[in-house]
Amino acid sequence: RKRIVSGVQPTGAIHLGNYLGAIKNWINLQDLYDTLFFIVDLHAITLPYDTQELSKATRNTAAIYLACGVDTSKASVFVQSHVRAHVELMWLLSSATPIGWLNRMIQFKEKSRKAGDENVGVALLTYPVLMASDILLYQSDFVPVGEDQKQHLELTRELAERINYLYGGRKWKKLGGRGGAIFKVPEPLIPPAGARVMSLSDGLSKMSKSAPSDQSRINLLDPKDEVVRECQDMNWGTFKTLLTDSLVDHLHPIQARYEEIISDSAYLDGVLEEGAVKAAAIADATLNNVYQAMGFLRRR
Ligand code: TYM
Repeated sequence: RKRIVSGVQPTGAIHLGNYLGAIKNWINLQDLYDTLFFIVDLHAITLPYDTQELSKATRNTAAIYLACGVDTSKASVFVQSHVRAHVELMWLLSSATPIGWLNRMIQFKEKSRKAGDENVGVALLTYPVLMASDILLYQSDFVPVGEDQKQHLELTRELAERINYLYGGRKWKKLGGRGGAIFKVPEPLIPPAGARVMSLSDGLSKMSKSAPSDQSRINLLDPKDEVVRECQDMNWGTFKTLLTDSLVDHLHPIQARYEEIISDSAYLDGVLEEGAVKAAAIADATLNNVYQAMGFLRRR
């Protein structure tokens, strides 16, 4: 079966953009593909963050996946930092990543401008290499994401091809590797609708977890009255009531399931543990191949 991976950062509240651009589409894919969905906690430290909140936000995000319909009998759900191979492969990949590729990333430019120089760590620049590692470790065929991640996906593809070229092919076969390619070159899956949900307060920006005003987005866990208030600010005339009603109807069961899941911590821990074990088995196999292809002395 073809494989799909995707993830969301545990920063701020998960909003309608994350849902329509990504999570909602994962649900339909579970039946057709081998799927792994992670919570990318290592990505969440690329800008200043609250250590008191990180683990809670990670759990909440996992609970949202499940509440939205991710089914653990089909998909693996795990926390990125629980599978060590992500960071390890990132180092190997970064040795073959030209700095120029990273400098031209739109998200880096936007985020570093907003954060100010003193808040910009090296990790904000190298972030797309970690994202490439998340994807390439699993030999993924497709990656369902919103429009804003397209450029990172392109970099992932270029990086996969570069590593295949530098260390794969005949050289790697000689070292005992099967086939020529070290990595599968993944394709983005960007939904025809919902790939770029706009902010409620600024029609030129996308809806974003990091926007200062909570009024600029509809969070999946927003209570009904709030959703109604936020929709009232929109400029869509007669559609408004209709939209608000259907949105509230759609979110209600998700919120009810979320409450159930988040209050059962033993269940949630079990899901994440099982997910990490399954993911690590795949990830470690790829990582071993890369070490071998790159010529490292392996421990016996
Ligand atoms: P993140 O956490 O910013 O967003 C999670 C997903 O939501 C999509 N999205 C949107 N879609 C439509 N309209 C919007 N306004 C909107 N805002 C966000 C994003 O495109 C994304 O699909 N780097 C990624 C997380 C990541 C990842 C990965 C994804 C890390 N490693 C590997 C896939 C595969 C990010 O920061 O997404």
